[in-house]
This record gives sequence, structure tokens and C-alpha cells, in this order.
Amino acid sequence: MKKEMLYKDLARYYDLVYHWKDYGKESARIKKLIEKYKESDGNKLLDIACGTGQHLRYFKKYFHCTGIDINKEMLKIARKKVKKVIFKKADMKNFYLKKKFDCITCLFSAVGYLQTYDNLKKALMNFSKHLKSGGVLVLEPAFTRKNFKPGMAHLKTYEGKTIKIARINDSKLVKNCSAFDFHYLISDKNKIRYLKETHILGLFEVDKTLKLMEESGFKPKYIKNGLTDDRGVYFCVKK
Ligand SMILES: C[S@@+](CC[C@H](N)C(=O)[O-])C[C@H]1O[C@@H](n2cnc3c(N)ncnc32)[C@H](O)[C@@H]1O
Repeated sequence: MKKEMLYKDLARYYDLVYHWKDYGKESARIKKLIEKYKESDGNKLLDIACGTGQHLRYFKKYFHCTGIDINKEMLKIARKKVKKVIFKKADMKNFYLKKKFDCITCLFSAVGYLQTYDNLKKALMNFSKHLKSGGVLVLEPAFTRKNFKPGMAHLKTYEGKTIKIARINDSKLVKNCSAFDFHYLISDKNKIRYLKETHILGLFEVDKTLKLMEESGFKPKYIKNGLTDDRGVYFCVKK
């Protein structure tokens, strides 16, 4: 599947597929940790790969927020749902926003879509350029080679009044990436459709990621007790 298709046809079902995810609780924990690590004075936050704006719904209570994502369908939903936040279509590798932030978040494995360490380095350098000195980057990674379990099938379901969704995915190792085929059966107003998306995410090791973060001007820390599961989370202060 071409990159532009990612999340396109399925954007409107994203929040339903992830209805089980507690964005409010995650955002509150991130806010606490930002308070602990942040050394800059302001409260400007940039959420990179913000998707449909689920974290921004909560972050906007505490911060002056901006969200960027590569996908215009996801942004369309975010703009409609989350008011008083600036949204912009941009690629995390090369965006330029003409301003600096006190906090940058990049959550729920979005960084995995960069696939290669070269791209990860480009993105981290760019994140660093957009942070004030003493500002904080919160990055929730995708799987590492160690915690990725290829071959495991997963089922997620959603059952609403007019929309019902069943999603099954497999997972395999392709070169140094995790590849997931997501098969969707969606019943929307009694019309049933089948859709398939393939997602390919880089398997970035913790040691190498920490090294790239240091080279990009951060004092990084990896916390094993993560937000979603055992993927962990990075907290980095800009030097
Ligand atoms: C798993 S979703 C996470 C969305 C959101 N952060 C959340 O927690 O729900 C991954 C997001 O990354 C975005 N994305 C993928 N590659 C990107 C890139 N190079 N630059 C910006 N966004 C990207 C996708 O469009 C998608 O919205």
C-alpha cells in the first residue's frame, strides 16, 4: 500500500478502533512528567504525528498547542474535534514552523513509520531545532527487535449502534522492520466493507535511539514503564 494511503480511507474509524485507549490518563501522566523535566519557562506544546488529535483534546487544557501530521484525512477530523489548536499538514522529517516550543510529543509509535535510522536521525534533529533550550521531548517508540513478537495475530473490535468493526492483524519481520497487515470488516449503516492496510515500522533499539538523541542535542532518558504497553517512553531535555 502506498504511503499516502496510510490512514486515509480508515481515518474516520480510527477513534473507534482505539476506543479502549485511555488518552485522558496518558495525557495527565505526560503532563506530570513534563513538569518534572522541563527547564524552559513557556507552555507551548507541539504534538508531532498528532493523528485525530486525541492527546491534544487534553493537552490544550494545560498548554498552548499545535499539532502536525502527514495525513490530511486525520487532520480533518482533528480540526473538527479539537478547537483552539493550530493544525498543520507536515512531515516530521522536514517540517519547519518558524517557532520554538517548550514541549514536543510524538506518541503511539508514530516514529516507527520513519523505518530507518537515517530518517530517525533527520527527525530528531528537526525536533531539536524546534525546541527551546531546557524544553522537553516526549517520544513513545514503536517495538524494538526484542519486544516485537512476529507471527502473533491480534483482534480488536468495536460495536456501536450504526458502526461495527472487526480488525485482525498478523505481524512479520521484513528486513529490519515490523510489518503488519490489518484486515478490517466494517459495517457502516448496514453496508459491509472489507479494507486492508499494511503498516511497516522500523525496529529501533533503545541504545541506538539514545545515542541518536544525544547526537541531536538532547539529554535523553528511557523509562521502561511506558504509556501503552511494554514499548516504554523517552523523556529528553534539550541541552
Ligand atoms: C498510530 S498513529 C498515532 C496518532 C496519534 N499520535 C495518537 O496517539 O493517536 C500514527 C500517526 O503518524 C502519522 N505519520 C506517519 N508518518 C508521519 C510523518 N513522516 N510525519 C508526520 N506524521 C506521520 C500518521 O498519519 C498517523 O496519524
